[in-house]
Parts: sequence; structure tokens; C-alpha cells
Amino acid sequence: MSQDQQRKIAIVTGGSRGIGRSTVESLARRGVNVIFTFHSHSENADAVVAGAKSFGVQVFALQLDAGKVSEFTAFEERVKAALAELGAERFDYLVNNAGNNHRNMPLESVTEEEMDSIYSVHFKGVLFLTQTLLPLMNDGGRIVNVSTTRTRLSSRGGAAYASMKGAVDVLSRHMATELGPRRITVNVIAPGAVATDFSGGIVRDNPEVNKLVANHTALGRVAGPDDIGPAIASLLADDNGWVNGQRIEVNGGVMM
Ligand SMILES: NC(=O)c1ccc[n+]([C@@H]2O[C@H](COP(=O)([O-])OP(=O)(O)OC[C@H]3O[C@@H](n4cnc5c(N)ncnc54)[C@H](OP(=O)(O)O)[C@@H]3O)[C@@H](O)[C@H]2O)c1
Repeated sequence: MSQDQQRKIAIVTGGSRGIGRSTVESLARRGVNVIFTFHSHSENADAVVAGAKSFGVQVFALQLDAGKVSEFTAFEERVKAALAELGAERFDYLVNNAGNNHRNMPLESVTEEEMDSIYSVHFKGVLFLTQTLLPLMNDGGRIVNVSTTRTRLSSRGGAAYASMKGAVDVLSRHMATELGPRRITVNVIAPGAVATDFSGGIVRDNPEVNKLVANHTALGRVAGPDDIGPAIASLLADDNGWVNGQRIEVNGGVMM
């Protein structure tokens, strides 16, 4: 068996930027082969592939709209092709991370279109992409779903987004129950505010928001993607095989 065939294989959605990118790089650093997805910025994806490959692993970038369930069967075929290039038929880890959120959405102004988009990408896509990929996952595999501290702390404009992430928290516990017989663990990582492009980069680029978050964080600053990606990668490591059905906050200590 070649070294590549012995390596674990991860699938990370939304791996071209932010938290997903850091997760891809952290897994690559740990010797995991990675298949990750991007949505519309292939140039970012190419840069992530090149950077992660420098750790000596195989890395594949596949386009995916995580909100379009009708495209998941075709995506599965592309995953099978990538696995075949790795000399494998199955993978080990799934990180449901992809997400978008264009603005804060007060109840008074959130539109049906916005709500449908958030539902499709952040919740429906997580359920059906997992369903689609489960036949390709090894028994004993791991799933991490990415949620948010905002399911626990309410703030203005978060109703639509945080409710769907709250649904992901519940979904994850049920997934853990249903997949237990296959020894597949399912956990949630819930980041606090992270300085990425998310929500128009508001946490990173708006000094008032940045300061507000830092002031409410025990460690006194806003997180960067590299505060979250390594935590996801370490949760997938063998040492954490008995952690199951849990929601783990990775937020530097917020309103504990
Ligand atoms: N940033 C925060 O403060 C924060 C806090 C808590 C939780 N989260 C959660 O963490 C996850 C990652 O957020 P982030 O801050 O890393 O975001 P980000 O920097 O904006 O990156 C988003 C990633 O998701 C992809 N993506 C966007 N829309 C997609 C779609 N419709 N289908 C498939 N992929 C799509 C993007 O691909 P392209 O590059 O091709 O567009 C990119 O790879 C999200 O689930 C978010 O809800 C974020």
C-alpha cells in the first residue's frame, strides 16, 4: 500500500477562504489528503491547493454550490473521481463549513429570498450533502459541522442566520445518534466572531464591531481563521475519537 493510500482523506466544504482554508491547511500539515470545495473564486482555490500541497499531501479543489441539492449527485461523481486518483474508494472526514451571509438581517427587513438562501446553504445543504456522501465515508469516520456562538447569544439582525445554525446544532446530535452504529462521530464547532470575508468582512474591517467583539472576549481580541481551523483539525484526530454529539465553542471565551 502506498503512503497516499494510508493517509486519511478529508472533504471540507468552503475550503477556499477563511475558516475552511485554515482547516484545509491544518489537515494538510497533519498529513491528511484533502478534497475541498469552493463556490465562485477558483483563483483562491488554486492558491489553497498549492499551499496545502507543500505539506506533501494530495489536495483537490472541486466547485460546489452548497445550496443546490440537485447538483449533489454530480458532485458525488467528482468526489469519486478524486478518490480514485488517491487510489481510494472512501474518505474519512467531512467538514460542513461552507457558508455565506451577506448582511445583518433585522426581522423587519429580511426577505423571503434571503431566508431561503440561508436555509439552503446553511441547513438543507448540510443535511443532503452529508446524506449524499455517507455511502462514500468509511465506517469509523468523523463529521464536523460548523455553527456559531450566535445560536447561544442573541443579537440584532441574527434571527435568520442564527436560527439555521441552531438547526445545525440539533441536526448534528441526531446525526450522531443515527450514525453511531457505523462508529461515525458527529460534532459541532461553534466559532465566535472571526475576522474573515464573511458578512462583508464586518468583523475584520469595521473597527467598532472589532472592538466590541474584543471587549466581550476573555482573551481580548477578535479571532482569525487560524484560531479555528486547527481546532477543527484536532477534533478530527484519533485522540478525540470518543468526543461525540457535542457542540464545542471556539471563541476565546465569550459570555461564559
Ligand atoms: N466569520 C465568522 O465570524 C463566523 C463565525 C461563526 C461561524 N462562521 C461560519 O463559518 C463558516 C465559514 O465562514 P468564513 O468566515 O470562513 O467565511 P468566508 O471567509 O466568507 O468563506 C466562505 C467559504 O464558503 C464558500 N461558499 C460561499 N458560498 C457558498 C455556497 N453557496 N456554496 C458553497 N460554498 C460557498 C466560499 O467559496 P468562494 O471563495 O468560492 O466564494 C468560501 O470558501 C460559515 O459556515 C459561517 O457561517 C463564521
